[in-house]
Amino acid sequence: MNFYKISLPGWEYPLRDGINITDYFGTTPGITRYPEDILSQPLRDDISRRGLRISEVQVFISPGPHNMKIHIDGTEIGANHCAVNWIVSKSPSWVMSWHEYIGPDLVSEPNAAGTIYMETPSEFCTTLETRMWTGPALVNTSVPHKIVNLSTTLRYCISLRFVRADGGSDFDYVKSVLI
Ligand SMILES: [Fe+2]
Repeated sequence: MNFYKISLPGWEYPLRDGINITDYFGTTPGITRYPEDILSQPLRDDISRRGLRISEVQVFISPGPHNMKIHIDGTEIGANHCAVNWIVSKSPSWVMSWHEYIGPDLVSEPNAAGTIYMETPSEFCTTLETRMWTGPALVNTSVPHKIVNLSTTLRYCISLRFVRADGGSDFDYVKSVLI
């Protein structure tokens, strides 16, 4: 599985009080990194209590409607990277899907936001799993994936990336801590 719902006290909503989504994050689609202090204190406390360290707090704003290209985060399919994602906007209709890629070898390149990612052309992909959720979810970002925003409104996603105490970062480890 590439997806797990997280059900932990303090994790229901990620942002601290006083953040109005559109005022604070703006309305321009893209990926922006923010300091950890946009997160609620109970969430930050629980993350450190569990021995996890946040490497990045990313906010994705997807236009609506929008069909993202299938890609992996990073440079290696199956590298086991992960994210914990919350959708914090009223975006009524969207899905995240994961895909199997069977095709030619690929090269990675930084995208406009400076994130290293690799596109996996859809003609070589078959769908493995499709999800929509509320609240936090652990997602595998090194299996080819995409978001489809079927809404006509912007979709705001808060995405946390973690590092292990020993410097590594992987889906199975974060899963063992959170699920
Ligand atoms: Fe991604």
